[in-house]
Amino acid sequence: MPRITDMKKAWNERANRDPFFYVETELWDHDKGKFFELGRARARELIDPVLAKYNIDPGDKTAVDVGCGVGRFTQALGIRFAKAVGVDVSEVMVEQAKIAAAEFSNLEFVSGDGVALPCPSDSADFVWSYEVFQHMPSHEVVKSNLREVSRILRTGALGLVHFRTAHEYPTILWHIAKFTPTRVIQALKSRFGKDPLTADDSWRGAKPLPKDMIARFCQGAGLRVIEFLDDPTHAPGSRTFAVVQRGV
Ligand SMILES: C[S@@+](CC[C@H](N)C(=O)[O-])C[C@H]1O[C@@H](n2cnc3c(N)ncnc32)[C@H](O)[C@@H]1O
Repeated sequence: MPRITDMKKAWNERANRDPFFYVETELWDHDKGKFFELGRARARELIDPVLAKYNIDPGDKTAVDVGCGVGRFTQALGIRFAKAVGVDVSEVMVEQAKIAAAEFSNLEFVSGDGVALPCPSDSADFVWSYEVFQHMPSHEVVKSNLREVSRILRTGALGLVHFRTAHEYPTILWHIAKFTPTRVIQALKSRFGKDPLTADDSWRGAKPLPKDMIARFCQGAGLRVIEFLDDPTHAPGSRTFAVVQRGV
């Protein structure tokens, strides 16, 4: 079985190259104003309907953004919640997030090891994670993070967690990549003008998770999936949001 990549090292390398690009590879055009506005727009589209549907009044509550990157959603959460905490495996991302959020007084950013969340138990009233679990290099890392989400959520509190359910490219390519040494993929990507920093399993992620497996992983972590929500920001069928609740 191939060894999994050092997530911290790989994401720090990406963040040192260009933190904004590796958060938003599709739409980053070097306009930071637009970048953070996109975060706010996606929060309106993806987070607000869930807060409304489940009657979550965020005014006196704490939200945690797992895999916060440069903090576009941590900022959006901070506008709604009394406090928002951004957690990321990359301390380079965290440093960038702190700089970008200089005008906020209710945000905290902390880096972790990518497996455990550096947050106290029972401290979160809401957990959000977008485009993060899809990068985790193994299902063990996914399960560990779900156990951590369960640990930090207060009893009965909700999380909105984003998963990859299917590849947008032929899955055979993922299988080939899995058994090809990273340095070979890096060399091939460089040779054909592609980005060698996207050659390893901390970018490619583990095998996608169909909804029944997500539900099983969540259950094993002490989380109940209340519902799955379609993701309008990716190709249909390739991602889902799980609304999860920490068991009572
Ligand atoms: C594509 S970016 C998305 C960032 C942010 N969620 C957003 O949408 O603006 C993925 C982020 O997840 C972080 N990340 C990857 N694996 C992680 C893990 N196991 N634990 C915490 N953060 C992780 C990366 O460092 C990176 O900042």
